[in-house]
Amino acid sequence: MFTLETKLDLNKESLKKNYSEFISLLNEYKTVLKKTTNGGSDKAKDLHKKRGKLLARERIDLLIDQNTPFLELSPLAAYNQYDNNFPSAGIVTGLGIIHGKEVVIIANDATVKGGTYIKESIKKHLRAQEIAMENNLPCIYMVDSGGVFLPEQANVFPDRDDFGRFFYNQARLSAAGVPQISIVMGSCTAGGAYVPAMSDEVIIVKNQGTIFIGGPPLVKSATGEVVSAEELGGALVHTSESGVADHLAENDHHAIQICRNIFESISPKERQVLERKEIEEPLYDPEELYYLAPMNFRKPIDSREIIMRIVDGSKFHEFKKDYGVTLVTGFAHIMGFPVGIIANNGVIFSETSLKGAHFIELCSERKIPILFLQNITGFIVGKQYERAGIARDGSKMINAVANTNVPKFTVIFGGSFGAGNYAMAGRAYNPKLLFMWPNAKISVMGGEQAAGVLTQIKEEQLKKYGKELSPEEKSKLEKEILEKYEKEGSAYYSTSRLWDDGIIDPVDTRKVIAMGIATSLNRKYEDTKYGVFRM
Ligand code: COA
Repeated sequence: MFTLETKLDLNKESLKKNYSEFISLLNEYKTVLKKTTNGGSDKAKDLHKKRGKLLARERIDLLIDQNTPFLELSPLAAYNQYDNNFPSAGIVTGLGIIHGKEVVIIANDATVKGGTYIKESIKKHLRAQEIAMENNLPCIYMVDSGGVFLPEQANVFPDRDDFGRFFYNQARLSAAGVPQISIVMGSCTAGGAYVPAMSDEVIIVKNQGTIFIGGPPLVKSATGEVVSAEELGGALVHTSESGVADHLAENDHHAIQICRNIFESISPKERQVLERKEIEEPLYDPEELYYLAPMNFRKPIDSREIIMRIVDGSKFHEFKKDYGVTLVTGFAHIMGFPVGIIANNGVIFSETSLKGAHFIELCSERKIPILFLQNITGFIVGKQYERAGIARDGSKMINAVANTNVPKFTVIFGGSFGAGNYAMAGRAYNPKLLFMWPNAKISVMGGEQAAGVLTQIKEEQLKKYGKELSPEEKSKLEKEILEKYEKEGSAYYSTSRLWDDGIIDPVDTRKVIAMGIATSLNRKYEDTKYGVFRM
């Protein structure tokens, strides 16, 4: 492979300006992340600790192997919604390692409204189970939850992908041979009781964990029976009488150790072989990405400059370098894992789509995971291009992206607009993981374009009645649309609603993708079959 060489002088004023703007954005992100991952109120945390319980993230730290990473997913879920009363949507999910095996961890944070579920908590829980299913990863549920957040019941109970889906997934995962382990460290009420009940193996903490279909207040109102929580569904009841739980733990530490011991007898069923090389750091410092992360989407950035700061040794075997130049494709290694890279270098033309589809075929044949680096304003528009069949050629790339069975990973490092999002493995195309840099933006089109389209529509409507927009009305309308797109297109807005798996610091891109590839090896990559390519 050839080593990429930079063409940039980082001392250039415009790049230094980009750097300082990006750093302030990154610092803002880190401040928000720190505050949010601190969990619920100090009062709730104090009470939680007084009860002898560990906090959700402390529990996870003890569960995973020492000195191994925990890749937390969507820590900013529900951010800037519900008056910020649900930090991380009251649930911590992510990928960790236990006895050297990758696992999915789902831990309720009881310091956030009793660990109850709003829409975003449900989405996080289901997304974690989806990752488990796709990668054959055992699930550990660290349960401490009051179930549904009752005022939000209409948004969390009735639909297909709502609360009930947890237990459907557990049944399907267990049937697929994916271990389901629960540690009951607090409340499991009503439907929540089925998290442990549907698990393969259950640990419950004495004087702390409870499991019941109806809590004491409900029992009293339904039958008149007065009973304490411990008597109704405490750890002793379930480990010695009901058989709902299998292991009695003295405290959180003990429960976590029992769970780790369970993993001594669990081994992966199958593994994909991927030839791994010695890890090499990139030749160019990944921190230089701060100079390049696009803060202004009007200024083009050669995506090779991004690639050389992410891949091992900055080495890249480029494919079709001089054809379809608005897409950069080629092979590289990330933390020793082979990877095919598809990166935007401008709008998508017909030849760009064909090149993308061809490269995806190569990766699929060779069983090499694909990393999509998105910075895309969309497909080329205009009479000439429509007549040449841009939609026909674009559909080939979208077909290839949708059908390839090698793992796809997507990082949005700039803009993600329009159908470009589809061709570049946006959320709807099932990338195994999708992350955004803090500067990234996502929307159906750029704000300025949307403002242009919507004011034109308004003007055409008014014309029918012989009216027109005054310059003031026009600029007011444009301003409103721009502001709306600015807000709704931001990475924070996206991550709050789980349109992605989280916002990452650009320097972590290598590690995050490597962890994704490592987890994907727990399932064999299937052969790819494409449908009909429109010719
Ligand atoms: N819906 C909405 N809010 C709930 C809730 C629920 N199911 N369960 C708890 N909360 C809220 C409480 O109102 C409180 O809110 P606040 O901080 O604004 O005052 C907060 O969560 C903490 O609850 P609290 O009871 O003070 O904490 P706790 O640690 O002593 O007890 C539970 C936590 C979950 C054991 C207890 O609140 C409980 O039993 N909740 C009801 C569970 C239930 O019946 N769920 C059925 C739904 S399927």
